[in-house]
Amino acid sequence: MAVPGAPAVSSASSAFSVSSSTSTTSSASTASPASSGADDVIRTSGLTKRFRGGQLAVDGLDLTVPRGSVFGFLGPNGSGKTTTIRMLMGLIAPTAGVATVLGEPMPQSVGTVLPRVGALIEGPALYGFLSGRDNLARFDAADPTADPRTRRQRVTEALERVGLTAAAGKKARAYSLGMKQRLGLASALLQPRELLVLDEPTNGLDPQGMREIRALVREVAAEGTTVFLSSHLLDEIEQVCTHAAVMSRGRLLVQGTVAELAARAQGRLVVRTPDVAQAAEVLAAHHVAGLQKGEGRVDGGLDAPADDVLPGICAALVAAGVRVHGFGVERGTLEDAFVALTGEGFDVAG
Ligand SMILES: Nc1ncnc2c1ncn2[C@@H]1O[C@H](COP(=O)(O)OP(=O)(O)OP(=O)(O)O)[C@@H](O)[C@H]1O
Ligand SMILES: [Mg+2]
Repeated sequence: MAVPGAPAVSSASSAFSVSSSTSTTSSASTASPASSGADDVIRTSGLTKRFRGGQLAVDGLDLTVPRGSVFGFLGPNGSGKTTTIRMLMGLIAPTAGVATVLGEPMPQSVGTVLPRVGALIEGPALYGFLSGRDNLARFDAADPTADPRTRRQRVTEALERVGLTAAAGKKARAYSLGMKQRLGLASALLQPRELLVLDEPTNGLDPQGMREIRALVREVAAEGTTVFLSSHLLDEIEQVCTHAAVMSRGRLLVQGTVAELAARAQGRLVVRTPDVAQAAEVLAAHHVAGLQKGEGRVDGGLDAPADDVLPGICAALVAAGVRVHGFGVERGTLEDAFVALTGEGFDVAG
């Protein structure tokens, strides 16, 4: 999707080649706002975007993305993910607040920062009349840091990595949505980058394609690139990310490691027993809420840490003569955490 009014960037999707830049190294990161943040690849403070017409798309965002993380930026449709990414990449100016990317302020430093970043934002901008391979060659040619002598090899390798080798000669206008998405991803992977920013990278892909992209993200991360990816798919974030932040209606609800976030969701206690009614009575009296009775089982949410309350519940069941066939806690998922945080399902309009 084209980005209207995008400054200084050759396309909405590309590897963000910026004409004025020269190659920079990571040691150039001198503009970190705080010493503790020297190892943060992205930092924002009070970042806010109000669009003309009054829409408050991003509201006072304080985000910290540690170097080396695979960071999932999670939120339902319209929660402000793309708007945030566009501010981070210098495509639009914030209404208030500040952002640093690779230690340098944005959008002031687009010229030095963007050559160090591979990005795919809301679908790639492609020339339909050119083949996939030629589109990639154009993106590469627009990158002043890319050596033309090794272009062919870079393009071939990027096509290979995203599984487009067989379709490389086909005109981009004949590409499916998933193929276009892969080509956009290939453009972000033409060069090794310090940071990869992917806005909904699996959008339009089939399940096999999604698996491939997840594998690719892990591979790129293992090579030392920090990956910042947005998604509205909780299980995708859970499978691939080390860290996550959850957005809702322009505001940041929570951020941290995926393990920390999932741990916020208290698990559900599940008791398997033929004595369902009796077991339910005991659980109701012992820190278990939202009881659900099923065939041979009863379950409910714990309102206290499992380690503190499980021994007492177990003893009470036995004391009441309940025949316990199974007793355990199902791990909380990110989705449970999200519902606990917002009190609503995930797929809500923003
Ligand atoms: N150019 C614009 N002008 C006015 N409002 C906008 C503009 N771009 C986005 N918005 C509004 O800002 C809010 C956040 O949109 P944004 O695209 O950032 O959400 P998102 O989290 O990326 O959603 P999705 O998951 O659907 O991609 C929405 O309410 C949207 O309608
Ligand atoms: Mg979006």
